[in-house]
Amino acid sequence: MIERQDSKSKAKNPRIVEKEADSDDLAKFDSALRPGSFTEYVGQQELKKNLQVFLTAAKQRNEALEHTLFYGPPGLGKTTLAHVLSNELGVNLRITSGPALDRPGDLAAILTNLQPRDILFIDEIHRLKTVVEEVLYTAMEDFAIDLVLGKGAGAKTMRLDIPRFTLVGATTRFSGLSAPLRDRFGSVFRLDFYNEKEIEKILHRSAKLLNVKLDEAACECLAKSTRATPRIANRLLRRMRDFAEVNHAGVITCDVVNQSLKALGVDELGLDAHDRRILEILIKKFGGGPVGLSTLAAASSEEAETIETVVEPFLLQLGFLSRTPRGRIATEAAYQHLGITPPPSNAKLKL
Ligand SMILES: Nc1ncnc2c1ncn2[C@@H]1O[C@H](COP(=O)(O)OP(=O)(O)O)[C@@H](O)[C@H]1O
Ligand SMILES: [Mg+2]
Repeated sequence: MIERQDSKSKAKNPRIVEKEADSDDLAKFDSALRPGSFTEYVGQQELKKNLQVFLTAAKQRNEALEHTLFYGPPGLGKTTLAHVLSNELGVNLRITSGPALDRPGDLAAILTNLQPRDILFIDEIHRLKTVVEEVLYTAMEDFAIDLVLGKGAGAKTMRLDIPRFTLVGATTRFSGLSAPLRDRFGSVFRLDFYNEKEIEKILHRSAKLLNVKLDEAACECLAKSTRATPRIANRLLRRMRDFAEVNHAGVITCDVVNQSLKALGVDELGLDAHDRRILEILIKKFGGGPVGLSTLAAASSEEAETIETVVEPFLLQLGFLSRTPRGRIATEAAYQHLGITPPPSNAKLKL
């Protein structure tokens, strides 16, 4: 029932930010604009610097790169980094995801088919089933898998060596990873939101690749509404291109940006109707909080994980939300953004 409601509202008013680039169309679009090297990969300077050191060291020793984990909100460039790493190392990239690996055998089949130093990329790695995850432990640590032959009392285990490979994991929920899995990564990197200059750079690059004219002022206008996220920047740019081609002789100007954002229901900070709805529910139904994540999820018919990994990170970044041990609280800035008068501060304290 709830699911049906959700998919209906989704079709009518698609989210500007999605958990994953899951539709074929999106995946194709993402890959067309995806940087293939560190030079093209904008921002994340600190991460890039460290990663390049590890990569060069591994190359010099002719060894596989250590297992690497990327975490952070969707659309910030985790999958892209796996592509960049495989290109820079000149090795194959095998892509799968936590939910796609249903049985231990699925993972074993992939592992046994890898070439030495290949990269296995597991997206949404926090969603691996425990039985599958256990196969990964020995694979990551000992570069071997234990096969169980036969059943019952006569069952035997046989250890099978696999090539020394690199596991690259990505997750939007670092806290959802079990400690044993986390500990087996040689390096762990958190991806940050991008600053406006970086987003502008990405927009200019994408505009060139998409063969669309984006003037300087328009780029600055648009960069402000992209939630500091490359995937959203590219997605909005594609929509702008449509508006520009149909109504404005193919040039994206500041006017086109403003009109199109309005038509898409995206406000000047990049929040879409879904984000504003969550904030409104928090403020109107729960007096601004504190309210627990699961209650907020139930009241808004959203999955708790979607709120936690897709909606919240940017609201936190904007300072619209704070997380407390008692639950989520809307800040005064959130009230102001929605044009709602905040309650007097003593009234809030009583909550
Ligand atoms: N640092 C970056 N520089 C340029 N473009 C980027 C960068 N990071 C991401 N992108 C763009 O955003 C899209 C989404 O990135 P992706 O790696 O799929 O995000 P994630 O895996 O973190 O959800 C990519 O296809 C790419 O076009
Ligand atoms: Mg990804």
